[in-house]
Amino acid sequence: MAASTPVIAIDGPTASGKGTVAGLVAEKLGWHYLDSGAIYRVLALSAMKRGVDLANEAGVAELGRNLNVEFSAGKVWLDGDDVSLDLRREETGNAASKIAALPAVREALLARQRAFCAAPGLVSDGRDMGSVVFPQSFLKIFLTASAEARAERRYKQLIAKGLPANIEDLLRDLMERDARDASRAVAPLRPCEDAVLLDTTAMSIDQAVLFVLDLVAKRGSGSSGQVV
Ligand code: DC
Repeated sequence: MAASTPVIAIDGPTASGKGTVAGLVAEKLGWHYLDSGAIYRVLALSAMKRGVDLANEAGVAELGRNLNVEFSAGKVWLDGDDVSLDLRREETGNAASKIAALPAVREALLARQRAFCAAPGLVSDGRDMGSVVFPQSFLKIFLTASAEARAERRYKQLIAKGLPANIEDLLRDLMERDARDASRAVAPLRPCEDAVLLDTTAMSIDQAVLFVLDLVAKRGSGSSGQVV
C-alpha cells in the first residue's frame, strides 16, 4: 500500500448505516470501498459450511488465511458461490461477531483488508478501521445512531431483501452484539481519540454523506480525488 494513498475510516456499531454512507462516499469520490464486516461475515459462513467450530480460534484463523472470497459485480463470492444474500442474514452477523472476538482471526484478516488500499483512495467501514487497520487515515468518523433507530433500519433492510425479521428480536440481538463488539479484548468497538462523531439518528443517508464529503473538502485528502 502506498503510504500516500488517502484513506477514510468509518467505524461504528451494527446497522448504523455506515456501510451505505461509506459506499456512497466512495462512489462520489471515485475511490475504492472496503466493507470489512463482509470479510468477517464470509469467514463465519465458511466456518459454518466446513463445520469448523466458531470458538476454534486456530481453525477459524487458518480458514481466514486461505479464504477464497471475491467481491465482483456488486456480489460476494465464497468458493465460487454467490453468498450475497446469506451474508446479510442476522445469524451470519452474530456468527461474525463471535469469530471477530478472537485475536488470531483478526490478525489473519489484516493483510487481506489492507490490500484494498489502492490509488486513488479508499473508504473503509468497520469497527477498527481507524484504530488498527488504517491508523494513518486522514479522516476518521465514528458513525452511530440510537439502538431503536438502528433496529428499525435493519428491519427495513431485511424485509426489502425478502429475509425474515422481527423488530424486538433485532433490537435484542443488536444490543447483545454491541456489547460483545465493545467489550472484546482486541480492537473493541469504540471511537478513536481523533475520530469525528456523527450521530445519524435524526439524519437521512444523504445528509450523512454530505457531512462526510464536506469534511473531506475541508481537510483535503492530499490526493486528486474530486467530488463528482
Ligand atoms: O458491520 P457488520 O455488521 O457487517 O459486521 C459483522 C461483525 O463483524 C460485527 O458484529 C463485528 C465484526 N467486525 C469487526 O469486528 N471488525 C470489523 N472491522 C468489521 C466487522
